[in-house]
Amino acid sequence: MNILIIGSGGREHALAWKITQSKRLQKLYIAPGNAGTESLGINVPLDIKNNQEIVSFAKKNRVEMVVVGPDDVLAQGLVDDLTKAHIKAFGPTKIAAKIEWSKAYAKKIMRKNNIPTAAYATFHDAEKAKKYLQTQKMPIVIKASGLALGKGVVISKTFEEAEKTVDEILVKNIFGPAGQEIVIEEYLEGKEISVHAFCDGKTVALFPISKDHKQIFEDNKGPNTGGMGTIVPVEGITKKTLPKIEEKIVKPVLKALQKEGRPFKGCLYPGIMLTKEGPKVLEFNSRFGDPETQSYMRILKTDLIDIIEACIDGSLKNLKIIWEKKAACCIMIASKGYPGTYKKGDAIYGLKKAEEFKDVVIFHSGTKKNKEGVVTNGGRVLGVSVTGKNIKEALKKAYLAVDQIQFDGMQYRKDISK
Ligand code: AMP
Ligand code: GLY
Repeated sequence: MNILIIGSGGREHALAWKITQSKRLQKLYIAPGNAGTESLGINVPLDIKNNQEIVSFAKKNRVEMVVVGPDDVLAQGLVDDLTKAHIKAFGPTKIAAKIEWSKAYAKKIMRKNNIPTAAYATFHDAEKAKKYLQTQKMPIVIKASGLALGKGVVISKTFEEAEKTVDEILVKNIFGPAGQEIVIEEYLEGKEISVHAFCDGKTVALFPISKDHKQIFEDNKGPNTGGMGTIVPVEGITKKTLPKIEEKIVKPVLKALQKEGRPFKGCLYPGIMLTKEGPKVLEFNSRFGDPETQSYMRILKTDLIDIIEACIDGSLKNLKIIWEKKAACCIMIASKGYPGTYKKGDAIYGLKKAEEFKDVVIFHSGTKKNKEGVVTNGGRVLGVSVTGKNIKEALKKAYLAVDQIQFDGMQYRKDISK
């Protein structure tokens, strides 16, 4: 089978890595890909914002299955257009992906179906939003409803800060159209985890629980990033937590989406806060997490092509998905200045040496190849992904591998798992 993966991050490199292990694969294309995916398949410089360009490429190159990585490409309806062209596409349709691209919609569906989440209200008007703030306790969470490159959530500690945030999003439009509507919600306390589930519209198959580390600095300080590192499984969580999340959150939302005529096929990834009152949804993502996928693919035993096909065809209930009884972690290495402005084009040293370490796979995010070799080309640059018999062992090996890698101004967190 010829397969095309859409995206250029560590997530797509990890998906490509797993897919190339399948006997069913003939040719693998990645659009646009990065310096890492180049060694697994053919990078194609397609404009991924242009659905028709992708559909035409797929038809011309006898691509039978397309795996869509990024949220904005799902929101532009690529899966709909591929399906119309009779090409199998993994990911939700545009209207099913709304659960991610409209936080206001996600909250509405949760409220309607009694899915546990933070109390909230939505606003288009800054004055009304500020009036509502007066009735609320601080800290409070203010979110741009639309897709904002993972930056659209602001936690305000005081009324003044919260009012300023409302003005910045609704009046100054700092998030552009993504901030035309805001969600103001109760601040939740607890341990944050990532839950992923393969979905075929009706059936769900949950992955083991993982944990991302959003803030750039150690001790969870500093601004939020796309994610600085993951571990799977998360130790110290009771065995009842995942079944509870499946019954109270994942299955009800899938059922609700099906009822609304937008069955969800693909990977559903709810961000969850484990509060004193139980698990509550922070947000729904309609895709694989990054860097979570860079850990997950290392311990997934079942053929990923079989799983993807079952999600698309609606036959997930007939497939047994097996996860290895191992732990995995991923340490992200980022450019200096990330998540703010950062420079590109710095030579990366030590990649080969790091990859020689046992159980280490290095996934590329923001990299590209030029005459000098592999250079930095993004905010998050590399993910050092390592397996072990437990998290402690995996982390120990991961940091030894990280020590081999060097580029100007590289930054990473030394406390992944905390
Ligand atoms: P989101 O993109 O909605 O997941 O938000 C990004 C991050 O903001 C989450 O990963 C949490 O760390 C934090 N966050 C979001 N909503 C809340 C909330 N209601 N209470 C506390 N923290 C939150
Ligand atoms: N791990 C964060 C995300 O994929 O949104």
